[in-house]
Amino acid sequence: MKKKHKFATLAVHAGQEPCLLTGALVPPLYQTASFAFESANQGAARFAGEEKGYIYSRLGNPTINALEEKVAILEGGESALATASGMAAISTVLFGLLKKGDHMLADNTLYGCTLSLLNHVIPKYGIEVSYVDASDPDNISGAVRENTKLFYFESPANPTMKIVDMHAVAQIARSNKLITIIDGSFTSPYLQRPLEQGIDLVVHSATKYICGHGDVIGGIIVGNKKNIGDIKSGVFTDIGGIMSPFDAWLLLRGLKTLPLRMEKHCSNAMKVAQYLEAHPKVNEVYYPGLSSFPQHELAKKQMDGFGGMLSFEMKGGIQAGERLINNVGLFRVAVSLGEADSLIQHPATMTHSFVSGEERMKAGISDGLVRMSVGIEDAEDLLADLEQALMKI
Ligand SMILES: Cc1ncc(COP(=O)(O)O)c(C=O)c1O
Repeated sequence: MKKKHKFATLAVHAGQEPCLLTGALVPPLYQTASFAFESANQGAARFAGEEKGYIYSRLGNPTINALEEKVAILEGGESALATASGMAAISTVLFGLLKKGDHMLADNTLYGCTLSLLNHVIPKYGIEVSYVDASDPDNISGAVRENTKLFYFESPANPTMKIVDMHAVAQIARSNKLITIIDGSFTSPYLQRPLEQGIDLVVHSATKYICGHGDVIGGIIVGNKKNIGDIKSGVFTDIGGIMSPFDAWLLLRGLKTLPLRMEKHCSNAMKVAQYLEAHPKVNEVYYPGLSSFPQHELAKKQMDGFGGMLSFEMKGGIQAGERLINNVGLFRVAVSLGEADSLIQHPATMTHSFVSGEERMKAGISDGLVRMSVGIEDAEDLLADLEQALMKI
């Protein structure tokens, strides 16, 4: 697929050609573990890399490859690697790039399980992790050590929506020889393409907007051929956290409507954010699209839209937040995000409950913070649901 096409065209067509055997327009689902060889010689040639072709689905599968090609094109990357979950993508990247004795830097506002991986798993392998507040990118230069290999961050960050200046981070990383990795789960490639801004690798929880329907757990890593090739041959094939072909097939299906879904998520979230901001029972609303959001200008500069995620604090703190959560109807009380359905959750006791109170405070996650993933329902119905719930507080 030619890169000259626009995003919505690529979302439909990239990574797929009619099946050579049957003409099937939709990429077939190759739900198979093995691929038969015509002879012992052919099997040996495939293993030796002398002949192209499939061997075994952990090493490569046509349905998974089609997804990898589509997402690589949408992100403006050369290559991609699909994984069993977002956490599999994150751990694969880190284990693929780091070794004993290395140090890595990360922004201090991250998804709870990512913080848990960095605090409890990575250090067991002799790798040091330290944190900075990258809302000021100069903090990164100040924390670089001789053995620092990479900088890892989210933007917008989960759940405070903090924005990190990707262009500035890429420049600082280049002058310090650091590899940069962003978790792009909150935006999908439709709203932000970090590789174009100089970031080296993008990881996604494909469970979120890439899927869009809440029926797959998956992940994907995108970058240049060398980085993805090194990660694949260096650790991924042996660790083995691959995506199932059926999940790849569902994601290929979901991606065709990514632009339509993202537009609706953005417009609904803006309406919900404006409604909450004007409500007398709500204290603060964190949504990059609001002009009151401290990094609104930066978000405008580096994003093509502000997304479907927002968080806020009620005037009555945690008790008021709990009452709101217990009284909504259309908003489902559930973690995850990026689905057609609107979801609401309480980070301190749910997604970020694995993080200590002290670390949560450093990341700006107050006990009263409530997070919403605004879905693609009718905005008026969502506002009416919030109105009736807020009346009960
Ligand atoms: C920002 C972010 N990154 C990564 C993950 C992990 O993704 P998964 O649940 O697909 O492993 C999540 C999950 O909620 C997330 O919110």
